[in-house]
Amino acid sequence: MDDLDLASAQGSPWSPGSWRAMPAAQQPEWPDPDALERALDRLRRLPPLVFAGEARALRDSLTAVADGRAVLLQAGDCAESFDFSANSIRDKLRVILQMAVVMTYGSGVPVVKVGRIAGQFAKPRSSATETRDGVELPSFRGHIINDPGFSAEARAADPNRLVDAYHQSTAALNLLRAFTKGGFADLTQVHAWNQEFVAASPEGLNYEMLANEIERALRFMAACGIDLGKESALHQVDFWTSHEALLLGWEEALTRQDSLTGDWYDCSAHLLWIGERTRQPDGAHVEFLAGVHNPIGVKLGPTATPEETVALCARLDPDRRPGRLVLISRMGAEVVRDALPPLLRAVRGAGHPVVWACDPMHGNTFTSPSGYKTRQFEDVMEEIRGYFAVHRAEGSWPGGIHVELTGDDVTECLGGSGDVRSDHLQQRYETMCDPRLNARQSLDLAFQVAELLRS
Ligand code: PEP
Ligand code: CO
Repeated sequence: MDDLDLASAQGSPWSPGSWRAMPAAQQPEWPDPDALERALDRLRRLPPLVFAGEARALRDSLTAVADGRAVLLQAGDCAESFDFSANSIRDKLRVILQMAVVMTYGSGVPVVKVGRIAGQFAKPRSSATETRDGVELPSFRGHIINDPGFSAEARAADPNRLVDAYHQSTAALNLLRAFTKGGFADLTQVHAWNQEFVAASPEGLNYEMLANEIERALRFMAACGIDLGKESALHQVDFWTSHEALLLGWEEALTRQDSLTGDWYDCSAHLLWIGERTRQPDGAHVEFLAGVHNPIGVKLGPTATPEETVALCARLDPDRRPGRLVLISRMGAEVVRDALPPLLRAVRGAGHPVVWACDPMHGNTFTSPSGYKTRQFEDVMEEIRGYFAVHRAEGSWPGGIHVELTGDDVTECLGGSGDVRSDHLQQRYETMCDPRLNARQSLDLAFQVAELLRS
């Protein structure tokens, strides 16, 4: 333990490396520590992926969500693959834009759009190793660490991947910036976002009708003389990036001091979240994220107690700043109605103006008889309904939705109006990790969430 580590363990001020003195769950074993240091050193010298001012702008937008004046939509892959294409990013963005339009139209309030994208590469695992036919190897932990292939070479943690993940994130972010600021996300393109395979479905037809109404409204406003020209807000969208801040060395290496304010920001993404497996109030992940000024999310599963939740709020949001903290409830459809109310009351009682969001995916995962990890669309919707019912009963704002999705026509989650059945799973099961909603299921969910927001 060096001086800095010792100092922090004794309760001294935060620094980007002070987490090293705390127990850090879910970190891989690096076979070559020198190679790890070289990779982290390289990362420390590379430019930031996002800027502090952008993270502050997202925090301002989230303030409106905390106040009940906007809705958060956080969505994307469970784990991004290094093997991505421009089309896959475009199609994911497209379905998120569609969902946001549907939710804005339904709720009458702005939707803050945050992707699980451009850095969502590291995965927590329930077991450190995986055994097949008597052979035990390290688990696959995401492309930032190792490869899913089942060989000792593929599963060894490779520090070069840390630098590759940086470049992958840069490429994805560059494309996202081009799409969202360069015309693709222009609201006048609202029809063009409906992909062919979605357009003929019931969700796609509902979306077409809504897009027609929006176009009519835009023509009406133009006819009234309202300026919808190049400078208006119709032509660009703000789209923010996020990922689970799991691999603390990587996050630390991309953490920079803002020259304007002197505050530290984790410049790997606009928003970082702490997962269900790493949210120990005295653990390294909470220590690290307590000191950066980005908006921070925390997943809360069914075992989260009111005391733990309030302790997390105290560590992560000591100044009680709206827009700083997003509490992401992921209870499971059967538990949410019982497990969530005590947490809402405790957080309100402690005076933290948090954004609440619902992740209806991670509490509803099971293995199908054919061996695929999957989720039922109906369970996902049931958790969302329960989540809204609890907020309505408690008089709090439901805030947002956090989902795993793809713009592709995959068969990973069961049900929905396309009726994906157990025997369809093998047709297009392409996820790197957890099962994602396909484009139709995502749109279906957005229409139902819009109804819930309206009622
Ligand atoms: C995830 O969001 O992919 C995840 C692992 O979630 P959780 O930490 O809630 O299990
Ligand atoms: Co997941």
